[in-house]
Amino acid sequence: MSSILPPARRVWWKEPIEKTELWWIAIALVWSMVLFFMMPYWHVFGKQNLSNEAYRISAADFQARTQEMVDKYTVRTETEQNIPVVNPPAGSDVYLIGRLWQWWPILELEQGKSYRLHLSAMDYQHGFSLQPENVNLQIVPGYEMVITVTPNKTGSFAIVCNEYCGIGHHQMVSRMYVK
Ligand code: CUA
Repeated sequence: MSSILPPARRVWWKEPIEKTELWWIAIALVWSMVLFFMMPYWHVFGKQNLSNEAYRISAADFQARTQEMVDKYTVRTETEQNIPVVNPPAGSDVYLIGRLWQWWPILELEQGKSYRLHLSAMDYQHGFSLQPENVNLQIVPGYEMVITVTPNKTGSFAIVCNEYCGIGHHQMVSRMYVK
């Protein structure tokens, strides 16, 4: 029998199942269940996988909201590209754009205050990774990821893109300040 001809016996699926094959099916089923329940387990007990929310939003709308925040709360600019550093009020909604190949703007937050951090991409998929903290999110165009953040340490934190996004991927780094 070859793969381009139909099987000789048409009703081949009514064959009795080999005992060893049954064992493999049972093991695979049990293991897939273990892995499935590990997802909520790691969230609750391992403090992994953030409680994020995701909403549909167009790139233009997200850019407009980010621009509005930048216009109101920019305190200075940094880097060669003159990226605005924004100091939004505690408790407010803050926006961060990921695009080829930069994060925009730079956020300056206050320790112990909570913010609603909105993240979205303008063009392709990017990855938001806050170092050295364990915060990792996929940033996709057309959607915004929203997380509630309460910085518990002061300092300068690095933001790196951890989804390959083209020739400038390795330059897609930024920072976030907490004071
Ligand atoms: Cu953006 Cu890699």
